[in-house]
Amino acid sequence: MKVKVLANFKMNKTRKETKEYLEKLEKVDKGRVEVTIFPPMSALLPSPLVGAQNGYPAEKGAFTGEVGLEQLREFGIDKILIGHSERRQLGETPQFLREKSSFYLENGFQVFFCIGEPMEVHQQGKEAIGAYLLSQLEGIDLSHPNLHIAYEPVWAIGQKVTPSLEMIENIGHFIEKNTQKPILYGGGVKKDNVQEILELSPVEGVLVGSASLDFDHFAQIIQIAKSVAERKQ
Ligand code: 13P
Repeated sequence: MKVKVLANFKMNKTRKETKEYLEKLEKVDKGRVEVTIFPPMSALLPSPLVGAQNGYPAEKGAFTGEVGLEQLREFGIDKILIGHSERRQLGETPQFLREKSSFYLENGFQVFFCIGEPMEVHQQGKEAIGAYLLSQLEGIDLSHPNLHIAYEPVWAIGQKVTPSLEMIENIGHFIEKNTQKPILYGGGVKKDNVQEILELSPVEGVLVGSASLDFDHFAQIIQIAKSVAERKQ
C-alpha cells in the first residue's frame, strides 16, 4: 500500500530555502511513500513533490491577495490543503470550504481536507467529537476518489501532546466508517511516533508541520514510513 507523508511548512521558509530543501528531497529514496511538501505560496516550485497550502476557488479574477487555479497550474500544482484549522481560525467558513473543495476536485486536484476538534469539544467525549467531525464533512463530496481526509485535532497541532494511539485509531475508524476512506493523521507527528501512528489500520498517511522544517528530521520520517509501507502492502 502507498503511504502518504505530507509536510505543511505553514508560513515558514523562503523560496531559496524551499528550493534547497526540494533538491535534497528529490534525491531521497522514497520507496512506496508518496511525499508532498506544501511550502508558502511565495515558494511554489514546479515539482510533483510540491502542493499548495491554499487556493481561491476561481480560475482568476478580481480577488486581491488570492492565488487561483491559473497561478497554481503555472507550477503544475495538483494537490491542495483545504480546511486546515489555522485557516478556519482566520475566518474561512464551512460554506467557503465546500466551494473550495468542489472547485479543486472538479479541476483534477488531490484535495486534502482537514478536520479536527478543538479542546473544548474534545473534553466533552466521544459522541461530541464524532458529531463535530461529521459536521465539518457536511456537503463535502466524500465519494470523490481524489478527496482525502486529514484528521488534525486542533489541540495537538504545534504541541508536544498527541492523542493516544488508541484515540487516533478509534477516531480513525469512526471517520473511515462514515466516509469509506482511510485518514491522514496530523498534530505533533515526528520521527519518534510516526511508525506507531502509520501502523494503525485506519491511517494511510501523516501530515507533518514543525518536524518537517528540518530536512534531516523529515528525511528520517520518510525512511520510517518507507519500511511501514513495505510491511503494510
Ligand atoms: P505540527 O506537526 O507542528 O503539530 O502541525 C501539524 C499540522 O498542522 C500539519 O498541517
